[in-house]
Amino acid sequence: MEHNAQQAQKEKIMEHNTQQSKHATSRRSFLRKGLVVGGAGVIGAGVGVGGTELFTNVVTASAAAGSGSLTKGDVAILTFAAAIEILETDLWQQYNELGGIQDSEVPGGSGSAAYTKALLVLDGDMSQYIHDNTEDEISHFTFLNAYLASKGADPVNLDKFRNLPSSQATGAQHIGRLTNLMQLTVDTSWWTRLRSRTKNPDFGDTFPQAIPSLSTGKFPAIPRHDGDLSPNDHIQAIANTAGFHFGFIEQGGSSLYPTLAQGATNLEVLRVLLSIGPVETSHFQTWHDKAGNAPALTDPTNGLVFPNLNASPFGGEDFQTNLIMPEPTVFLSRKFPAVSIIRPTQIAESGGAVATVKAWTADGLFIGQSQEFLALINKLAVQADAARRGF
Ligand SMILES: [Fe+2]
Repeated sequence: MEHNAQQAQKEKIMEHNTQQSKHATSRRSFLRKGLVVGGAGVIGAGVGVGGTELFTNVVTASAAAGSGSLTKGDVAILTFAAAIEILETDLWQQYNELGGIQDSEVPGGSGSAAYTKALLVLDGDMSQYIHDNTEDEISHFTFLNAYLASKGADPVNLDKFRNLPSSQATGAQHIGRLTNLMQLTVDTSWWTRLRSRTKNPDFGDTFPQAIPSLSTGKFPAIPRHDGDLSPNDHIQAIANTAGFHFGFIEQGGSSLYPTLAQGATNLEVLRVLLSIGPVETSHFQTWHDKAGNAPALTDPTNGLVFPNLNASPFGGEDFQTNLIMPEPTVFLSRKFPAVSIIRPTQIAESGGAVATVKAWTADGLFIGQSQEFLALINKLAVQADAARRGF
C-alpha cells in the first residue's frame, strides 16, 4: 500500500513538473515561498569547518520543537542524506523518463524506444530496474524529510536550483533539472576496487579504471536529442555509459551510509541509516552485474571505447565480468585476515559526505550548476562529516 507522504510527494513532483513545463520562470514562485533548504535555516547556519556555529539554526529548530532527541550531528547527517537522495532522484528520474517504465509510481516522460532497446542489451529487465531504483530514491528523500520534520528540523528542498536543461530527445520532460547526465566523466575504478584482495581506499590505495576512456572525456549517459539515437554503436555507447554510471552512483551510496552512520548518536537515526544504506548496496550489486554485459565497442562519433573486460589486456580477477561480489581485502589493520567488506568507510575521508560531493562534481553531474548550489552542497557535506557520536 502506498504511504500517504510518499504519494503526496509524487503528486508534488508531478505538479511541480507540470508547473515547470508551463512556466520557465516558475522558480520565482518557489523562491517567494521560501522553499530553499529549510527556509534558509541551514544555508544561514554559520561558516567555517568544525566551528560550533555550524549548526546554530538546525539546533534552534530542534530545540524549538522540544524534541531534544537529535544532536546537531544527527541532524546534519540526515540533512545531507536527504539532499543526496533528492539529487539521486533527479538523475534517476531523467534515466527513467527515457529508459525506464513511466507509470503512477514513477511519473514523467514517455520513453525513448532506441535508448530503451540499447539498455535492454545489458539485461532484459533494465527498464524495471531503472524504474525501481528511481522509486526507491523518491521514497528515501521523502522519508528522510518527513523524519527531519518530525524532529523539528528543517526538511531539505533544492527546488530553487532546478535550472539545468532537460534532454531534447523525444520522451523526456522539458523541466529544470538539478543534475547533468549529458557531459559525464565516469570514474570506473569502483570496478577494480571491489575486486582487489590486497588494497583498500581507506589505506590510501588507488585503483585502475575498468573503462579508461570513459574516465577522461565528457560523454552523455542519456541521448541529448534524437540525433543521438543513431548510429547503433553510438546509442549503445550511451546506454553502456549509463550502465557504468549506475554502478558509480550506487557504490557511492553504499559507502556513504555506513560512513555517516559512525557519526550518529541517536539509535533511531542509526537504524534509519542502517536500513537505507544496504538498499543502495542492493542497487549497486544489480548494476555491477549489468555493467559487465555492456558490449565491447567503439563509438564512431567520439572514439569512446568499451573494451572486452574478459580478454587481454583486461581479464583476470581485476576485470572478469562475473566477479561481481566484493573480494576479501585488508580492513582496519593489515594484522587482521582479509575480509569481504564495503569500502571505503572511513569518516571524512574517501567514503564520507565531502568525498561524495567531490566525486559527483568530478563526474560532471553538476556542470552548469550555480556557485550558490555548489557552496550549499559542500557546506552540508562538511557539516555531515563533522558529526561525531555524542555531539
Ligand atoms: Fe537512495
